[in-house]
Amino acid sequence: MDFLNSAYWIRAKKDYGDICPIFQKHFNCSGDIKKASLYITAMGVYEATLNDKRVGDFIMAPGWTQYDKRHQYQIYDITALLRNENTLNITVGKGWYRGEFIGWREKDIYGGLSAVIAAIEIEYTNGRTNIITTDKSWKVTESAIRFSEIYDGETYDATFIPKNWDEIVILQAPKSNLILQDGCTVTEQETLLPINMFRTPKGELVIDFGQNMTGYISFEIDAEAGERLVYSHAEVLDSNGNFYTENLRTAKQKVEYICKDGKQTFKPHHTFMGFRYIRLDEAPANIQKENFKAIVVHSDMKRTGYFKCSNEKVNKLFSNIIWGQKGNFLDIPTDCPQRDERMGWTGDAQVFIETASYNFDVQKFFKKWLRDLAAGQDGKGGVPVIVPITIDTTTILPSAAWGDAAVICPWQIYLTYNDKEVLEEQLNSMIAWIEYMHHRGPEEFLWVEDVQFGDWLGMDAANGSFKGASDQDLIASAYYAYSTGIVVKALKVLGKDATYYEKLHKNVVKAFQNRYDNHFNTQTECAVALYFNLTLDRDKTAAKLAELVKQNENKLTTGFVGTPYLLHALSQNGYSDLAYTLLLQEEFPSWLFSVNMGATTVWEHWDSLKSDGSMWNTEMNSFNHYAYGSVAAWMYKVVAGIQIDENNPGFNNVILCPVTDDRLTFAEAIVETAYGTITSKWEIKNGKTFYEFNVPNKATLILNGEIKELSKGFYKFEI
Ligand code: BGC
Repeated sequence: MDFLNSAYWIRAKKDYGDICPIFQKHFNCSGDIKKASLYITAMGVYEATLNDKRVGDFIMAPGWTQYDKRHQYQIYDITALLRNENTLNITVGKGWYRGEFIGWREKDIYGGLSAVIAAIEIEYTNGRTNIITTDKSWKVTESAIRFSEIYDGETYDATFIPKNWDEIVILQAPKSNLILQDGCTVTEQETLLPINMFRTPKGELVIDFGQNMTGYISFEIDAEAGERLVYSHAEVLDSNGNFYTENLRTAKQKVEYICKDGKQTFKPHHTFMGFRYIRLDEAPANIQKENFKAIVVHSDMKRTGYFKCSNEKVNKLFSNIIWGQKGNFLDIPTDCPQRDERMGWTGDAQVFIETASYNFDVQKFFKKWLRDLAAGQDGKGGVPVIVPITIDTTTILPSAAWGDAAVICPWQIYLTYNDKEVLEEQLNSMIAWIEYMHHRGPEEFLWVEDVQFGDWLGMDAANGSFKGASDQDLIASAYYAYSTGIVVKALKVLGKDATYYEKLHKNVVKAFQNRYDNHFNTQTECAVALYFNLTLDRDKTAAKLAELVKQNENKLTTGFVGTPYLLHALSQNGYSDLAYTLLLQEEFPSWLFSVNMGATTVWEHWDSLKSDGSMWNTEMNSFNHYAYGSVAAWMYKVVAGIQIDENNPGFNNVILCPVTDDRLTFAEAIVETAYGTITSKWEIKNGKTFYEFNVPNKATLILNGEIKELSKGFYKFEI
């Protein structure tokens, strides 16, 4: 930061409109260089090249934060790229900062100018240091990127050579919000090759990459100057097998490339798409699928969790959940990566975080996002439904289950990684959210009569409504109790006085029970009451839940709120077989229905694609929404039985308590932890069940009603 303190924010004299500006600095080095670093950030998203080589591998830098309060800058080691005479080029796309329609605003939600601030630090072996900062000596002009928007794609003219370099203008902008990169970087993670190129019934030329994903295409072609390669991206084909883009709403996801002469390669600079298919809208003759590769882009998180079992459809579902996470963890946890939304909906992140933290190491990823959540909270503790904020928070008010991300997410990060720092850091934000609920509406100990999303997209929603049939006040009050209970635990972990919140918690639970107990009428209401431990008569509520599921022909009706808890509420209360029935259900609505329909990611709706091939609707139909993927936590925690011990978190002690079912002949999960690899495996053979466990530190094994304490080691049991 020191160096950026003496640097200026610089911008072009005029706005180049759709065209991305390119900033340039020539500088010389003399002598033996020990180390050189580039400190940089932008209003927009930037890509820097030094002597025509890309600086670093961060895609969509500087990432997305609550820019007005927390604007990340990055430091890159550029030692290896330096020569005696150097040219640093920086292109800036509008990105999240000022892109069109981001957060459904027209444009420029954080500011109306593309700008850059940078410092180059060159340390010589003789002890001398040279600092070059953005100032009046830098130049700017139009780049070959003629258009770039997150939702709409990119236009690139390879024949265009930047010229007419112009003076820059110093922008008087604050620097107090600049912070060193605190999230994961976003990088290219894998490459997928096309599996098919074909003509649709409409005659469109389409390439299939076999997997719905987030990223972009890289291509290599031989062409003549002026030829055009234009392609659009889509997640699915329609019922006739034609390229389908209606669910993208206004997002165009289109790349237009104007060729130069000869062999050339390209990939977009300042955008990403959600897609499985591309349609070649214009292409040079002889184009082949081999010209294209799909590059998967997401936050750089280490994979930590694996699951497989004897049912290939469940394995496909698990793979879809992993892809849902890859596709939606691009710097922030997004609802979806394709349509004109791609925002940090807090409720989605909250319901998925447990699964997310088994699948990948998301500690750093969520800590950064939680800082943005806290930065976006209003004076009364209200948590925006989208973080970083994009919407008008005075008209779209906080909602239960969404705002509870403020409490549930830090608690999960604490549990998975034994990270007390996250609790320490977020405590004020957690408490502020409780106080928000405490002071909303006419009742002190219930949260009622407010605007809520309810059990979003529940199957029992009335026609034309997005809200499931569950009582939204019941859900809100249940979360009020649950989150207050978590705050009590967090205060105790931190060795702080929890008396006030213990009392509040008791009062909320009591008020909830007085108002709602024995009046649970939907699967979600029962699941929430059971999972949050709010019912006075657990057996009765569990029996009611089981009855509701059976009455519905063993099918679920839950939406965003009920789904993560449904199977747990059953298996924790003597109905594991029914939970398995729901997991293995193939008829609509179910997880495996989408698998049977060819899904490669998790859908937003249980019927995003209907059995007749028609779509749920055109307005809100993402094929890459991870919320229902929260079922993977049940696979890890119940099928394989790998659970966190709340009193000994971070997998210091692991609770191993697999629940088998005859409909599977084996199941296995692996979880990488700070202590090493946990494995849990079972196999049913000749009427016997064989168990194998690898314990990296210690474990509490619960098998057949017996409890055993295990130390580090590999264990086999036979029952
Ligand atoms: C998003 C969701 C989100 C919801 C809340 C939708 O448009 O895609 O996933 O949680 O709105 O209302």
